[in-house]
This record gives sequence, C-alpha cells and structure tokens, in this order.
Amino acid sequence: MTKILVTGGAGYIGSVVVDMLVSNDIGEVFIVDNLSTGHKEAVNKKAKFFEADLTDSEALKIIFNEVKPEIVMHFAGLSQVGESNKEPEKYHRNNVFGGECLLKAMVANGCKKIVFSSSAAVYGEPMEIPISEMHALKPISVYGETKVLFEEMLDNFDSVHGLKSICLRYFNAGGSSENGQFGEMHEPESHLIPNVLKAAKNGSEFKLFGDNYETKDGTCVRDYIHVVDLAKAHLLAAKYLLSGGQSDTINLGTGKGFSVKEIVEICKDVTGKNFNIKIEDRRAGDPAVLVASNEKAGKLFQWKPEKSIKEIVESAWGMG
Ligand SMILES: NC(=O)c1ccc[n+]([C@@H]2O[C@H](COP(=O)([O-])OP(=O)(O)OC[C@H]3O[C@@H](n4cnc5c(N)ncnc54)[C@H](O)[C@@H]3O)[C@@H](O)[C@H]2O)c1
Repeated sequence: MTKILVTGGAGYIGSVVVDMLVSNDIGEVFIVDNLSTGHKEAVNKKAKFFEADLTDSEALKIIFNEVKPEIVMHFAGLSQVGESNKEPEKYHRNNVFGGECLLKAMVANGCKKIVFSSSAAVYGEPMEIPISEMHALKPISVYGETKVLFEEMLDNFDSVHGLKSICLRYFNAGGSSENGQFGEMHEPESHLIPNVLKAAKNGSEFKLFGDNYETKDGTCVRDYIHVVDLAKAHLLAAKYLLSGGQSDTINLGTGKGFSVKEIVEICKDVTGKNFNIKIEDRRAGDPAVLVASNEKAGKLFQWKPEKSIKEIVESAWGMG
C-alpha cells in the first residue's frame, strides 16, 4: 500500500481527507500535526499519529526515517487572515520555514511528490471573475503571501531536486465528512457558514461585515466548495503525481458565487431558525467577489464538484 504522510491531518480539511483515504483503503496513512489548531479526536484511529511541529527538523528526520512515505499531503499551516497581518513573523515561521523543513526532509528521504493546500488568498483583489490560475498573484494579506512564497519554493525544489507538486488553491471550504463525523472546528472561527450557523443555534446576533460592496445585494460574494469535493480532488491529485504527473497549480471551487445575504437565507431555510443580523463596517482585506474558474481541474483530473451549497450547509448544521 502507498505510504502517505499527511501534515495537518488533525485539522478540518486534513481530517476529512485522512478519513477518506483510510475508509477507502487507499494507502497507509501517517499524520504529523502539532495540534496548534487541530484536534486529536478528529483523527481516524486507523492512521498513525505523530505529534510534532514542522519547524522541528530533528523530529521530521525521525518520522521520515520510520515512515519512508512515497507522497506527502501538506495541509499544516496557520490560516487566520487577520492574525497573519498582526503577527507576520509567526506566519512566515510556521507556513514558510515549516514548509521548508518539510521539503528538506522529503528530499533527504527520496520522497519527491507533494500535494499542497494553497489558497485563493494568493490572488488578492481579483482583476477578473472567474479567477483562473493564470491570474496575477497579488496577495493582500500576510497569510496569502506565505502561500505564494511556499508555491515558489515548490517551483525551486522541482527545478533543483525534481520534486513534483500539485498546488491546490482552495476557495471557501465548508461542510463535513460524508459520515458527518469530521467538520469545521476553528477557534476563533472566522469562516462565514459556521458563524451563521452559530447564530442560528444560539439565537444570537450575526455580524455581517459590509453591505455596500459592488455586488448583487451589497454583500461579499464567495465560492463555497464542499470539503468532500475537496477531499476527492486530493485523491485525484495524489494519483496523478504517483502515476508520473508533472507539477501544476489548480483552483478548487465550484465556479458559482453566493453573497453573504444569500448564505444567511440558506442557513435560515436549512435550520428553520431565525436570528438578527447586525451590519458592521467592512473588514480590511475582504475582496468584493472571489469566484474560481475550475476548468483546469476538470481537464487535468476529470474533477467536478458534486455538492450544492444547500448540502454544504446541511452537513455543517449536522455537525452542530
Ligand atoms: N478552510 C478553508 O476554507 C481553506 C481555504 C484555503 C486554504 N486552506 C488551507 O488548507 C489547509 C488546512 O486548512 P484547515 O481549514 O483544515 O485548517 P486547520 O487549522 O483546521 O488545520 C491545520 C492543521 O495544521 C496543524 N498545524 C499548523 N501548523 C503546524 C505545524 N507547524 N506543524 C504541525 N502541524 C501544524 C494544526 O494543528 C491543524 O491540525 C491550511 O493550510 C489552510 O491555509 C483552507
């Protein structure tokens, strides 16, 4: 069986991918996670868990020697946009230096395939919608910058060491795993759907940041992608690399945009709950519209998102 090392496998998206790999007997799965934002209880028990930090090269050396993975899926990272702008050094150390330590450990152990969790944050304020992979990279947050820097590092490691990578630029992930066991548990939670559902559950006020954008109803428009569709794309990306595929960069989104107000209405409909909305000022660094072109993923992997926005909200509500 293929040995797959998953960094950040105790986090939201990583735990769903680990569960899919293990449940479908796709490989022997090993996890490296420092539990800084992840949850040990979210890890499928059939995967072997190593509690370690990616910036700890000695720990990585021991893990790589023991596991000898054929491929790495790299989810580990800090991803709070606001925090990244306040504490840039923390983000550079974790996401860039930590990534560098990982790549060095891979090369030292002859592991030359990696699937990386990049982000739509690499594009910044988009110049055209839908956003294709050819769009200029102009991140407007330190978080987005760290993703661009690591993508560049991957390019360099390919040129020098022949390390092949697929960078998956996710748009907004949502929903839970197919068995409903693994879902979003960020603390603090900055993502829209869990925050709207929290207001529905507690009958509390929902804070909506900005209703004067140039969009259909004045609120921000985003492309929401079900975590199960994301997970399937990871399996296809890994298969592509394991069968000799070249390095590439792929958007993962549905190509459809929903405004904050539309999401609120869908959440009210799914939960049957009502709650108050308080309009607040815009948050710095929130582009008006982010919608992916997902043509390339279709062409390269025959990947197509299958789940609707309603299914995303329903499965996230099932978690609550
Ligand atoms: N959730 C989204 O909508 C979204 C969108 C775009 C990109 N991404 C990217 O996808 C990846 C996974 O996101 P998520 O939402 O599952 O986040 P998450 O915070 O739930 O998971 C990240 C995991 O990585 C671990 N980790 C962080 N730094 C580490 C380090 N130095 N060493 C070892 N483990 C470490 C954490 O403990 C956690 O388990 C991240 O890289 C994120 O930037 C997520």
